[in-house]
Amino acid sequence: MAIRSVLGMQGLQSPGATTAPLSRMPDATASPPKRSKIALADTVAEAKAAFVAANPESRARFEAAARVMPGGNTRTVLFYDPFPLCIARGEGARLWDVDGHEYIDFLGEFSAGIFGHSHPAIRAAIEAALAGGINLSGHNRLEAELAAIVCARFPSIELVRFTNSGTEANLLALSAAIAHTGRRKILVFEGAYHGGVLSFGKGPAPVNVPHDFVMAPYNDLARTEALIRTHGNALAAILVEPMLGAGGCIPGEPAFLAGLREAATRVGAVLIFDEVMTSRLSPGGRQGEIGIRPDMTTLGKYIGGGSSFGAFGGKAEIMRRFDPREPGALTHAGTFNNNVLSMAAGIAGMTQVLTPAALAGLNARGTQLRDALNAMFRRNGANLQATGLGSLLSLHATERAIRNPDDAADANPAIKDLVFFDLIARGFYLARRGYMALSLSIGDAETAALVAALDDIIRTRGSLVGCD
Ligand SMILES: Cc1ncc(COP(=O)(O)O)c(C=O)c1O
Repeated sequence: MAIRSVLGMQGLQSPGATTAPLSRMPDATASPPKRSKIALADTVAEAKAAFVAANPESRARFEAAARVMPGGNTRTVLFYDPFPLCIARGEGARLWDVDGHEYIDFLGEFSAGIFGHSHPAIRAAIEAALAGGINLSGHNRLEAELAAIVCARFPSIELVRFTNSGTEANLLALSAAIAHTGRRKILVFEGAYHGGVLSFGKGPAPVNVPHDFVMAPYNDLARTEALIRTHGNALAAILVEPMLGAGGCIPGEPAFLAGLREAATRVGAVLIFDEVMTSRLSPGGRQGEIGIRPDMTTLGKYIGGGSSFGAFGGKAEIMRRFDPREPGALTHAGTFNNNVLSMAAGIAGMTQVLTPAALAGLNARGTQLRDALNAMFRRNGANLQATGLGSLLSLHATERAIRNPDDAADANPAIKDLVFFDLIARGFYLARRGYMALSLSIGDAETAALVAALDDIIRTRGSLVGCD
């Protein structure tokens, strides 16, 4: 099977081949040192050395790229030390890197790749769009069709506009809320990610847009309500991910999200659900699943069929501000907002591929995978857990219950490094931080292979990943 051949190609018999030499192995009769940081650091270093040896072409590409791009990179999330893999191509659920290794793609382009690589229906739609000419310099027949699909799928979106990314969608939604309310403050949550210039991992990022942000604790309704009371009259918007995605796949508790709905209504702030990631959790997004109607919603990722895409929409009374026929209308520009490739790919993806039944099957598979992983971690006594909802998962190197980003702080971040390099060596592709987003091309065989690989890694690495 592919995974075995990858293991061979990466030059590793098994991850055990990179464990500490015998002289450093604990005496079997003495009680083994648990989670020894020295042994772990050595082992991660060895796993990285094996990665370097197995990937000379990726390394060469990285070094060439670093001569013309800072860190050889144009998308920070993709970087990791010693250098990121350079991916040559993808097909269905598989990826190949430039050194010829094959991977099962569990990352799914950070959730935008829900259709798998080069789905024939989407490919045909893009080819048809190409045949009709791109960059048409005008309204086209596709944009209103995709808009109708989006509005039908998410009933809280009465009117919608397109952008080129989820980041841009959130920027526009915030601008709309500020214009609508005449207020300036924006309530956001610790650990939230709403795009490259709207990032709140450890407080607001230095590159963030200079809005007047108020930071609130995720899943803590009492403290958030207190902040809303304090800033109520000045609050233009509450911007929230119904599940912290980049922050570690931490679901927003329904009572917390419902409390935000009530509080926003009470103070007249615009409640914006950032469903760029979570909209895939049911045909109507997370909002449909838990029955909460935000004032505005932002979308992105897969809805453009895998092409550059973003959208913001919501109540007609807010979105109408962008109607150019209205006096004093807000402008919303963007050369590629209605680009025919994204529009065509999106229509094909949403109508021909991502049917409600397909989406339900995908999310059920994700839930089964997460349950199987957690059962296996418990069985092995490993200091690991998988969080998330449906087809979106994140691995954490801690056993404590996770309700917010502080809970998710890894007991020892090096454990996740080791798991990452061991999985890569076995032909499983995921984000360095442990994030995974299943695509429709991933089947039961692939998820079972992942559980088996992690089981084997835990048995091989034993005490390093927290087993007794
Ligand atoms: C919840 C959320 N909002 C916004 C964004 C930004 O989207 P984009 O990368 O398309 O700008 C992301 C991207 O990961 C996201 O997960």
